[in-house]
Amino acid sequence: MDSIIVQGGKALKGQIHIAGAKNAALTLMPATLLSEEPLTLTNAPRLSDIKTMTQLLQSLGAEVSAMQDGKVQVMSTHGAINTTADYDIVRKMRASNLVLGPLLAREGHAIVSLPGGCAIGARPMDIHTDGLEKMGAEISLKEGYLHAKASGGRLKGAVIDFPFASVGATENIMMAATLAKGTTVINNAAREPEIVDLAKCLRAMGAEIAGDGTSTITVQGVDRLGGATHQVVTDRIELGTYMLAPVFCGGEIECLGGHIDLVGAFAEKLDAAGVDVTQTELGLKVKRRGDRPQAVDVTTEPFPGFPTDLQAQMMAMLCIAEGTSVLEEKIFENRFMHAPELMRMGAEIDVQGGTATVKGVQRLKGAPVMATDLRASVSLILAGLAAEGETRVNRVYHLDRGYEHVEEKLSAVGAQIERVSDS
Ligand code: UD1
Repeated sequence: MDSIIVQGGKALKGQIHIAGAKNAALTLMPATLLSEEPLTLTNAPRLSDIKTMTQLLQSLGAEVSAMQDGKVQVMSTHGAINTTADYDIVRKMRASNLVLGPLLAREGHAIVSLPGGCAIGARPMDIHTDGLEKMGAEISLKEGYLHAKASGGRLKGAVIDFPFASVGATENIMMAATLAKGTTVINNAAREPEIVDLAKCLRAMGAEIAGDGTSTITVQGVDRLGGATHQVVTDRIELGTYMLAPVFCGGEIECLGGHIDLVGAFAEKLDAAGVDVTQTELGLKVKRRGDRPQAVDVTTEPFPGFPTDLQAQMMAMLCIAEGTSVLEEKIFENRFMHAPELMRMGAEIDVQGGTATVKGVQRLKGAPVMATDLRASVSLILAGLAAEGETRVNRVYHLDRGYEHVEEKLSAVGAQIERVSDS
């Protein structure tokens, strides 16, 4: 398994290209199951999660080919398809559950393994299944698999009130509703940019969707969808991660392809922490105003609030801020596993339930640390940029699920960082 070694203290300067969004690609790819015609995605990120989704789609009978070093994915699913999503693939990645809505919509039945537990919380699927049941699906759980069947062979439009604005449930129901009979209304829908991106792609395929980006999404079912070519939206989490890099060790970074609309709440917190964020023609330029960032309080919320997927990276930054910050995690119940690792580097953090109090220290110290999940891994790399001496981040396979060539992108702007293979 690989490790990443960072020597801290080098100021950064230059441009970093931000990739297409992992979370958008993972919901756009299953949309191919809704049509017999090809769906082409451009600006796809080159990540191991994308390979896992490719494997899953292939196991269902889709043809997937990648071009331009994986950046263009062409997918098509014609003829009969397999409607069982196997545990061996689903367990690797929760987003595999996004095949449920499309399979049910296209074939009228599907068997999809429950993804199982996950390091950052229980993450059940009740909002997905309650919504599909409202649309006429009968769903039961047998030996770890959800067995779903649309009564009469086709889902029906329904009014669905979500108890929480779940991203995955909004995507699954939106895809299922495109081929349902009648109109579906999702109240308290999630508003994330990846949902707007999915709606844009589905409309290009012929779906009738309105209200994406607001809390009420309306989908008028159609009889069939066609093919389309769609460009994956910029990854706002990768963007936010690299925006933080110069805050750790000084310098100035321009994140190419970044737009302030993708990271509004995050950029507001950066401004309050003493960081300048400027929209340029090419992206977002970021520079720390003083020698150290200032403490700020942060609460994670659904979009347009502060994203949970940037919480670990923000915590790492607050570890070196002047003053004490309070971080509240409202989306996942167990998402502070990076805190003990940061403490190994000299951070002062007190975690009580979903609240972490971070007392900033002048300097972190390099240490061997363990990557516990995707965003935790990158937060430790960021901390390493600021730390005195060497930080070795072990078990970085999580990192490759969500970040393309992180060591290449950071070393190109002046960081001293390398990947080593542990034998
Ligand atoms: C997506 C993102 C993930 C991000 C999260 C929140 C993808 C592939 N993943 O995950 O990176 O951190 O949004 O922004 O896009 N919940 C239920 N029942 C359900 C569904 C969700 O209780 O049926 C709970 C979850 O346990 C969690 C919260 O709702 O506590 C948020 O989950 P959700 O918005 O569904 O996140 P995901 O789609 O899994």
